[in-house]
Amino acid sequence: MEKKLQNQVAIITGASSGIGAGVAKSLAASGATVVINHPVAATKAPADEVLNEVIAAGGQGITYQCDVSKESEVVTMFADVVKQFGTVDILVNNAGLQRDAPFDQMTLEQWNFVIGVNLTGQFLCAREAIKEYLRRGVDLTRSKAAGKIIHMSSVHEVIPWAGHANYAASKGGIMLMMKSIAQEYAHKKIRINSICPGAIQTPINRQAWDTPEAMDALLTLIPYKRIGQPEDIGNAAVWLASDDSDYVNGISLFVDGGMTLYPGFTTNG
Ligand code: BGC
Repeated sequence: MEKKLQNQVAIITGASSGIGAGVAKSLAASGATVVINHPVAATKAPADEVLNEVIAAGGQGITYQCDVSKESEVVTMFADVVKQFGTVDILVNNAGLQRDAPFDQMTLEQWNFVIGVNLTGQFLCAREAIKEYLRRGVDLTRSKAAGKIIHMSSVHEVIPWAGHANYAASKGGIMLMMKSIAQEYAHKKIRINSICPGAIQTPINRQAWDTPEAMDALLTLIPYKRIGQPEDIGNAAVWLASDDSDYVNGISLFVDGGMTLYPGFTTNG
């Protein structure tokens, strides 16, 4: 099989579970050396598990603990990875979480926690990645681009979400941060895009799929009539990270089974 990401180093944040773990496995299967980031000591074991699967499948990588909402930890992570592997080629800015609450009851802590990880974390990691891409420039033995950033956004960068205002605000923020920096650095051959997943079967949305009733209700929102899997996002990430998408800059790629097609209008309106 052709390995489209051979000789490239990828940092995937929040890769100890869910979409991040799936993306790490897909990038590794395409030849990238993966840095499986996880936030705290307690997430080391699941991150090691992901690394074991990567290695068992013939891939390579390391795990790395870093809370992406903390500036000094992010700066250190990038410095350590560059020291160990020489450079970074791909950043998948994936770490994200939900702390849901009715808006009139949402605490400042819930607001700040979600914005801190989902939006500020993506800012800090993107900034460090861009510094490294600018330092190295294009090396055609690696890729046509000087570097790639893939932001993990959500269908909720465009779909309003009652009860999740902090989360939706973080994803809306990612959209314009991504497009602004894509515009700013395209001339340096840095490609920056987002993936916007719909409902992907992971722990973050367990309550939306773990009973038959919940799954039935969820499927009314998905024209393609199946829940997504981490591999669906992994496949999109491989494409956006590879030279196959070399002319793709600043897009939000919706991978959602049609969730953004206003399914409520299929037989109404
Ligand atoms: C959320 C999930 C949700 C999905 C579709 C994602 O961004 O994290 O909880 O199932 O959007 O609504």
